Amino acid sequence: MDKLKSYLKKNKKRQLDELIDLLKIPSVSADPKFKKDVAKTAKSIAQHLKKAGADMVAVCETKGHPIVYGEKIIDKKLPTVLVYGHYDVQPADPVELWDSPPFEPVIKKTKIHPQGAIFARGSCDDKGQAFMHIKAFEAMVENDALPCNVKFMIEGEEEVGSVNLGEFCKKNAKQLACDVILISDTSIISNKQPSITVGLRGLSYVEVEVTGPNKDLHSGVYGGAVANPINILSKMIASMHDKNNKITIPDFYKDVARLSKKEREAMNKAPFSITQYKKSLEVKDVHGEKGYTTLERTSIRPTLDVNGIWGGYIGEGAKTVLPSKAYAKISMRLVPNQDPHKITKLFEKYFKSIAPKSVKVKVTPHHGGDAAVTPTDTPEYMAAHKAMKKAFGKNPIPVRGGGSIPIVALFEKVLGVKTVLMGFGLDSDDIHSPNEHYGLFNYYKGIETIPYFYQFYVQEKAK
Ligand code: BES
Ligand code: MN
Ligand code: MN
Repeated sequence: MDKLKSYLKKNKKRQLDELIDLLKIPSVSADPKFKKDVAKTAKSIAQHLKKAGADMVAVCETKGHPIVYGEKIIDKKLPTVLVYGHYDVQPADPVELWDSPPFEPVIKKTKIHPQGAIFARGSCDDKGQAFMHIKAFEAMVENDALPCNVKFMIEGEEEVGSVNLGEFCKKNAKQLACDVILISDTSIISNKQPSITVGLRGLSYVEVEVTGPNKDLHSGVYGGAVANPINILSKMIASMHDKNNKITIPDFYKDVARLSKKEREAMNKAPFSITQYKKSLEVKDVHGEKGYTTLERTSIRPTLDVNGIWGGYIGEGAKTVLPSKAYAKISMRLVPNQDPHKITKLFEKYFKSIAPKSVKVKVTPHHGGDAAVTPTDTPEYMAAHKAMKKAFGKNPIPVRGGGSIPIVALFEKVLGVKTVLMGFGLDSDDIHSPNEHYGLFNYYKGIETIPYFYQFYVQEKAK
């Protein structure tokens, strides 16, 4: 391990430069305009895997963007770790709100990242975090320190719902056989307080369309006598939360897994400052479901949020128009035991039931996914715990995350394998937002922690 440490020290600059180059390719999976760049990124990841020491590497085409697969099998009798990550990124819009171009990485110091952070789309979510695994793998191979088999599956469609990954896993279940799935696509509490994510929320995502009259109308000639779909949609959306901020869809909470008082007390002991939280977001108060803390609202409770709403005239100046249509994109974050398909149906039924006769409504489901909880009494959790403790010098705390990685539940269903969510980002890294960044401390700490994980995992498995 000393050899490995000095190798990492010597190769620091190159390992950073390589990530910077990778971040220059705009691998936006949602926008067909970037299809070539997504493919180029896949190729680059494959080359990096090969160079790092994978025996077999393949860029696997799907109906959408390719999945990069790589493996190094050193001994069939040893355990196998499957690393999952994604090389696709969220769209950079609104680009004008970035302080530097999203695909021209720059390193800047911030208060939270005094050693500097790389500012670029995908730096944290998830190119930077996925790349740590390739660099740690390279270091282990170079220094004869790889203690088990490893498989990589780095996909290009996570940010659009991993629509082709399920089929890929089913088709290639044999090839993907492994003992544990290791993912770095989540966050830690802070650089001084490591944590391991032990839960993720599920997701149901729908788009709604409300139609009033069959064409846009003069808002003076018709206004007041015909339903304005934007007015109606706003009212419908507003009615989906009651005065306690509970979601009003009947049976929405029916299957929600409840936590014991003890479990809730334990999770609220995690270090968290509500004052700092409000300050960082420049809000005078937080907002959410009555009876739950902010930590609970963002982890063990489901939500309903409008992600976008549009319709009518939004150009310069004023245009008097009574629009024909209004739209919204609505996401519901789900918690264990809530079935995304069932929730989508409940939403649709309720949404239609609250629409007045004066409008027509259409509900189109998008991607979704199951929530996940990962156990803490497994060799892999123990290994992650020990690895983080060794790298950070402090015991990591188990925490439930608010985001979603739908494939975690899918891996369990299709491959029958549990996941360890050992992420290194910070919640303040602005993933999906303008000025996304990833701390250099976090990048290097990740590369340092990963080989410890492998080492401890093999030890724990042999127990
Ligand atoms: N890496 C995130 C998920 C995440 C972020 C989990 C921070 C925990 C902490 C992932 O790339 C993501 O953005 N997932 C989407 C869902 C997906 C179906 C588009 C999400 O959570 O919105
Ligand atoms: Mn991600
Ligand atoms: Mn993401």
